[in-house]
Formats: sequence, C-alpha cells, structure tokens
Amino acid sequence: MKQKTIYICQNCGQQSAKWLGKCPECGNWNTFTEEIQERASGTSSVKSFRKAAVIQKLSEVETKAVERIDMRSPELNRVLGGGLVPGSVILIGGEPGIGKSTLLLQTALKLNNKKILYISGEESPEQINLRAQRIEYESENLFLLPETIVENIINQVNEHKPDMLIVDSVQTLQSEKLESAPGTVSQIRECSNALIEMAKTQNIPIFLVGHITKDGSIAGPKVLEHMVDTVLQFEGDQHYFFRVLRALKNRFGSTSELAIFEMQSNGLREINNPSELLLSIHDEGLSGISVATVVEGMRPLMLEVQALVSTAAYGTPQRSSIGFDHKRLNMLLAVLEKKLHIRMSQKDVFLNIAGGLKIDDPAADLSVISALLSSELDISINKQICFAGEVGLSGEIRPVSKILQRISEAEKLGFKQIYVSSYNQKKMTGSHKIEIKFVSKVEEVFRQIFKE
Ligand code: TYD
Ligand code: MG
Repeated sequence: MKQKTIYICQNCGQQSAKWLGKCPECGNWNTFTEEIQERASGTSSVKSFRKAAVIQKLSEVETKAVERIDMRSPELNRVLGGGLVPGSVILIGGEPGIGKSTLLLQTALKLNNKKILYISGEESPEQINLRAQRIEYESENLFLLPETIVENIINQVNEHKPDMLIVDSVQTLQSEKLESAPGTVSQIRECSNALIEMAKTQNIPIFLVGHITKDGSIAGPKVLEHMVDTVLQFEGDQHYFFRVLRALKNRFGSTSELAIFEMQSNGLREINNPSELLLSIHDEGLSGISVATVVEGMRPLMLEVQALVSTAAYGTPQRSSIGFDHKRLNMLLAVLEKKLHIRMSQKDVFLNIAGGLKIDDPAADLSVISALLSSELDISINKQICFAGEVGLSGEIRPVSKILQRISEAEKLGFKQIYVSSYNQKKMTGSHKIEIKFVSKVEEVFRQIFKE
C-alpha cells in the first residue's frame, strides 16, 4: 500500500496536499518537502490525558517568586533575564562553528554542583571530552549521552533524573513515532514537543541547540521558536574573536539584552567591558576613523567606525558596508551630497565597523558621517572625540535614547568631547567632565570638526 504523504513547509510548518513553489503562509520559496504522514501509533503523543484546567480569578492567582538558577556566568545570566528559570526551554541558534557547543559545554562544566546530561547527536563522547580538556574546567556531574531517538532520551532522563539537559542539536533528533527523516519540520516539532512536555512536568531546564540556515533563520523551525520559552542567537564573524549572544525572544526577561564573548584557545571568555576592546588601538592622525557611542541591549558600547572614500576606478562606484545597514549608508551619502555638496556619487565608499560587530542603533549615523567626511577630506578626527546622534533626511541631527548612559560611558573611557543632538539638551541633567557639543545640523558638525 502506498503510504500517505503530505507536503510541509520546512520554514513555518504550513501543510499542503500538493507541492507548492511558494509557501502561502510565510512566503518562502522552495521550502515544501514531501513527508510521510502516517504515524506508527495514534495521533500526537502529547497533550492527551491531561487533567482539565480550572478557571481562576486573576486576583487570586498566587505568584510564586521563581528562584532562578545562577549560571555562574554574569553575561549568560543577564541574557537569560537574571538567571535560568527552572523548567524553561531555551533554544540557542547559530551558524555552524560559531561556538554553540563550546558555550554549552563550558557552562555545563562550570555548573559542577548540578547534574547535567549532555545529549549529543553530532559528536562522539571522545570529541566532547577533547573539547572539555581545552576548556580547563572540571566537573564530576556532567554526563554524556550520544543518542538521537527522543523516546530513549526521555527514558534516560526518567531513570537518571538530571538537573539540566543539553541537546546538541534538535536537528539530529528523531522520534520513532514518525517515519520522516531527522531535521524535517515534523520530526523537530514532535521531538521538541516531547522534550518541552518533559521540561514542564519534571521542572528540568533544557537547552536546545539549533542550526541556522544560510539565510539566518533557525533551520526548520519558525514552529520551534513559538514553542520554546527563550530563543538566543549566537552570532559573530568567524574571522573575528567576538561572539555576541542575543535574546530574540524571552518569556522571562527582556529581549534587548546581549552578551559579548571572546573565543580563545581555551573556550569562550566573557567580556565585561566591551568598549575597551572594541576601540582598536590606532595612532593619532589616521583619517576615516571615528568613534560611535551606541546602545546594544541595555548597555552602551563605544565602537570604531572606519570609512574609506576614494575616486571610483571604474564607471559604477562601489558601495560596501560591513556591520552597518547598506541602505542607511546610501541615505547618509545622499545627505552629504545634498547638504554639504560633497560629490559622493563618483566615489567608491567602504564602511566597516571594527571588531566584526553589527549595529542597528541609528545613533551611529553621526559617527558614520564623520568617518566618511574624515576620509574624503583626509583630515583625521581627534581621538578624544566621539559621537551619538541620528541623522535625518534633511541633514538634521536627531536626538537619541539613553543619552545620559552614552555620555557616562564616553566619560568613563576618557573621551574629552561628545557630539549629540541639540534636542537632547532638555533632558540633560547633572554636571559632566566630558564636554558636550550640541549640534542640530550636519553642516555644524562639518564646520566644527573639519573647519575649525
Ligand atoms: P563549536 O562549539 O564546535 O561550534 P558550534 O557548536 O556552534 O558548531 O566551536 C567552533 C569553533 O571554536 C571551532 O572552530 C574551534 C573553536 N574553538 C576555540 O577556538 N577554542 C576553544 O577552546 C574551543 C573549544 C573551540
Ligand atoms: Mg556544535
């Protein structure tokens, strides 16, 4: 008998009886694959035989203060919203080789007072041990299980009762109830459901590792993102040492938190004061460099913006931007052209954020403009000056949020002057050692920095 099959979008889980080129739900192309629908037994494994829920009055609901688990890493604690919530399920996504396994293994080794079960479907215990030896922490409470069948995992957990579970990775998991291959949406959904159910009923926190596809989404699982409590993304450029861990979703904390690590030969080191490292050491007198004060998450960061503007060698000028939005760069170039009459249309423009970080904060605009001007005019900007301001379409300097935090970070790092929007002036309180320069138009910045 021919088995019944169904087509499932591998991105969002949309089902269809026939193959479709474009998913009507999430709009992605070529994501439908055929999967066997038949289950060996019954329907969904979870959510059956549960006790019916009781209606409660909101005001009578008791809120227990949850005791969070200290991960013995201030950075990780912060991204999790102040420690790990017992029974929560955390998905850690990231490109292969970025350091997900290292981060989790290191965390497991540090937490040597907790019994942790590390399930690996990708690496053998020998490989994991080799990595552990590099990391130089020791734990008698870490157990390895090279297993991919989710039913077997659950049996092992029931038998050994660990305090925490690490699953590396969800894409290798497989349920015996389904016949489709590991890594497909049905398998990921089924296996994760079973694990989440276990986390909630037995109060065991679970870290799930999820690989990321080329376009940056966690493979398979939009579905998975909805199911878990927290989604963390581990990112960074392979050629740099910095790794950024961001919360994309967090039921137990803010999503604007971010932690920075550095990959070293013996594991990941936390960077508690990133600004000092991100400001690369350069000599006075180099043109095309300026310092931006941005806020990532709740924390201010000082970053170096590097620009190179040169006459286009060929007809069409090149525009390249690393770590800064391409469209935004084009917008800023247009502002320079229009407001300062600097001919940018015939120039090659390269922009780079030092350290391999990506910035979204529009407060970097003013620094980007200054770096571009500095390179174009070949006049260096004094090393003790930094910037925090958004640039609008008509060349106005717009105010930015958390201005006092930015100013105090700049002050802490010994900067002597900071350029901010005049509109921020109202909010300014207290006295500052650093000189605050209020500007309202790009023309003023141009005059004050490059003409005086
Ligand atoms: P890994 O954790 O295996 O990445 P993922 O699980 O995300 O695929 O780590 C990948 C890289 O980190 C690998 O190229 C080797 C490097 N590394 C170090 O530089 N130092 C170390 O101490 C460890 C364990 C790994
Ligand atoms: Mg890995």
